[in-house]
Amino acid sequence: MKIDKHLAAVENVRRFDTRIPEEQILPALLEVAAVTPSAANVQPWEVIVIREKRVELAECTLDPLMRDEAGLRQSWIAQAPLILLICIDRKRAAARYGAVGADRFAVQDSAVLIHNLRLKADELGLRSCWLREFDGNKVRTLFGLPAHVEAMGIIALGYSEEALEAHPSLALMDFVHIEQWSRYYGCD
Ligand SMILES: Cc1cc2nc3c(=O)[nH]c(=O)nc-3n(C[C@H](O)[C@H](O)[C@H](O)COP(=O)(O)O)c2cc1C
Repeated sequence: MKIDKHLAAVENVRRFDTRIPEEQILPALLEVAAVTPSAANVQPWEVIVIREKRVELAECTLDPLMRDEAGLRQSWIAQAPLILLICIDRKRAAARYGAVGADRFAVQDSAVLIHNLRLKADELGLRSCWLREFDGNKVRTLFGLPAHVEAMGIIALGYSEEALEAHPSLALMDFVHIEQWSRYYGCD
């Protein structure tokens, strides 16, 4: 099944062509952070823009089962001409809500930012993929992240004409409950 056009904005593209995004696309993309919601407007995010250390970053990736083996890495990300590393600043996140802010809210806030960046990228003609499977310690060393800053996600961006098939998804009846929790439709 082909992906609906209005859903295609957030499909994950892992093959990019050789076109390089123009310099001015970056501020246009990143300005979406200003309108991204976060708990109490804490905006716990930090973003590292990566154009150079792409091969080194690929070396930090793990496979989908979080295995750390040279032959299993997501080396395709080195082909993405533009990569964003989305981090959270746990100190800033804790200032308002303490541990729950640093541990839970910041994770949610950064996920919203990642999603908004991907939507904005689509509007700017870029396609992208969200990656989480990487070795946080290696990433910390590679980019010199201080102890209170943690890498949460990678967005690989670029141009692509790739046509994707829709991935398997749950039917609405498998996860939607009307008014109260119900096991009526689904299994356990
Ligand atoms: C939090 C998160 C982490 C993800 N990490 C990865 C990743 O490390 N590598 C990858 O290729 N895709 C990653 N994805 C994309 C998912 O694989 C994708 O959304 C989903 O499985 C649909 O599969 P498809 O992209 O093959 O259609 C991630 C998505 C999310 C939301």
